[in-house]
Amino acid sequence: MAATQDHRDPLSRVALALALTSFTVALACGDSGPASTDGSTTQGDSTAGTTTAGGEDGEAVYANPVDGGNSFACATCHALSEPAEDGLRRPGHPLADATRRPHYKNGKLPDMLAAVNSCLQEWMLADPWTEDDARWQALRGWLDAMAPEGDAPPLSFEIVQPPADLSGGDADSGRAVFNSSCAVCHGVDGGGTNQAPPVAGFGLTGDYVGQRVRTSGIVDSPVYDGLTGGRMPFWAADRLTDAELIDIVAWLAIDDGTDTTTGTDPTGTDTDTATDTDPTTGSGCATTHPSIGYTASLQAFFHNVGGTAEIVDDCTIVISDFTFDGTGIDVRIYGGLGGAYESGFAMTDDLLKPGGYNGTTLVATVPDGFTLDDLDGISVWCVDVGVDFGSGVFSPP
Ligand code: HEC
Ligand code: HEC
Repeated sequence: MAATQDHRDPLSRVALALALTSFTVALACGDSGPASTDGSTTQGDSTAGTTTAGGEDGEAVYANPVDGGNSFACATCHALSEPAEDGLRRPGHPLADATRRPHYKNGKLPDMLAAVNSCLQEWMLADPWTEDDARWQALRGWLDAMAPEGDAPPLSFEIVQPPADLSGGDADSGRAVFNSSCAVCHGVDGGGTNQAPPVAGFGLTGDYVGQRVRTSGIVDSPVYDGLTGGRMPFWAADRLTDAELIDIVAWLAIDDGTDTTTGTDPTGTDTDTATDTDPTTGSGCATTHPSIGYTASLQAFFHNVGGTAEIVDDCTIVISDFTFDGTGIDVRIYGGLGGAYESGFAMTDDLLKPGGYNGTTLVATVPDGFTLDDLDGISVWCVDVGVDFGSGVFSPP
C-alpha cells in the first residue's frame, strides 16, 4: 500500500500530514519490525547505487532508516553537500568529504566508523556496526567515491547555549527558516511527521524552544557536552545563527488555538485511545508474581508526564493520577528492564489524544509473550524516535 512506500521517502514524508503518521509507525519504529533495507525509496534521483559484494547499496544505506532503529536515516540529519538537492538545511554537516577528514566529532573520535556508530547509537537507537558490516562497507565506498581528491579539513562545531534574550524576532522570517531547516523532521509549517511531533501553533515559550534547538540530545553523551535530553539533534552555532533562532522563537510563540495540551475537550473524544478507565481489571490473570503490589512513581522528562503505577496482577499495571499532555508522535506505555525501553514492549495503544490526561486512571497490560519478569519499570515512551517522556522503576510499597 502506498503509505508504507511513502514514509520511506523524506520528501513525501515532509508532505504527509499527521493523519498518516499513526498509520506508518508500526513499520517505522524502534521495535523489531520488518526490515526496511531493500527496494526502498532513496533520496532524489541521483547516481545508480554502488552495490557491494555484501549486497548493500551505499546510497540506500544513507537514505533509509536502519533495521531495528528509529525512523531517522543518515539523510534526515546530513545532506551530502550544500546547498542540498532538496534545498533543506539539516542539523548535521554534509557528508560528501567525510571519509577524507583526519578525525571526527571535534577531535574526540579518531576514525569515521566510530563517528558513524555514535550517530547510530545516540540518534538512531540502532546497534553499532563492525568494520566489516556490509552496510558500513557500502556506505563508506559510496561516500569515498564522491569525495573530492585529497584530504578534507577537519570539521569543528560548537554546542552553545541559547541567548538570554530571545525576544524581538520576526515571525514571518522564522516560519521561512523553519521550513528550510526544521521541516525535514517536523514537516512543512511544523505540522509533524513520523520523525518529529507537531510544534507550530501551540504558543511554545522562547526559553523552551531555545533550549530544545541548542542543547537537545542525550544527557550523558560520550561525544557531545552540555546536552539536555531528547532525541532531537542539537543545532550547533554554525548550523543556525542566534538571529535565525530568535525568528523561529517568534513564530513558534504564536498560539493559533490548535493547542490541544491544555484544558478539557468538551467533545470527550475518549473512544479512540487506550483503555483509560476501569481499574477493576477483570483481566483474568493470576496473582502469583512476587512483584504484585510494587509501585512506581512516574518522573517527567517531557510533556507533563506523571502518575503512580501499581502492579495489580500477573499481567496488569494500573496507573492512577495519570497526567500527560497527549501530544507527541506515537506514544505508549512501555515496559522494560534497566531503563532500556528501546528494547522493551508496548503495554497500551497509542496514547495521543486532544486534551491529554489530567489525573485519569490508565490500565496497561503485559502482552502475550512477556511476563512481569521482563520489566522492572515503565515509561511513557515515544515509539517512533525512542524518547522517554517520563518513567519510573518499581519498588516494594
Ligand atoms: C538525528 C540526527 C543524526 C542522524 C540520524 C545521523 N547523524 Fe551524524 N551527526 C549528527 C550531529 C548533530 C553530528 C555532530 C555535528 C556534525 O558533525 O555535523 C553528527 C556527526 C556525524 C559525523 C562526524 C562529522 C565530523 O567530521 O565530525 C559523521 C561522520 C556522521 N555524523 C555520519 C552519520 C551517518 C553515516 C549517519 C547514518 C548512519 C548519521 N550520521 C546519522 C546528527 C545525526
Ligand atoms: C532530525 C529531526 C529533527 C529536526 C531536524 C528538528 N527536530 Fe525538533 N524534534 C525532533 C524530535 C524527534 C522531537 C521530539 C523528541 C524530543 O523531544 O527530542 C523534537 C522536539 C522538538 C520540540 C519540542 C516539542 C514538544 O512538544 O515538546 C521543539 C520546540 C522542536 N523540536 C523545535 C525544532 C526546531 C525549531 C527545529 C529547527 C531549528 C527542529 N526542531 C529540528 C526532531 C527534529
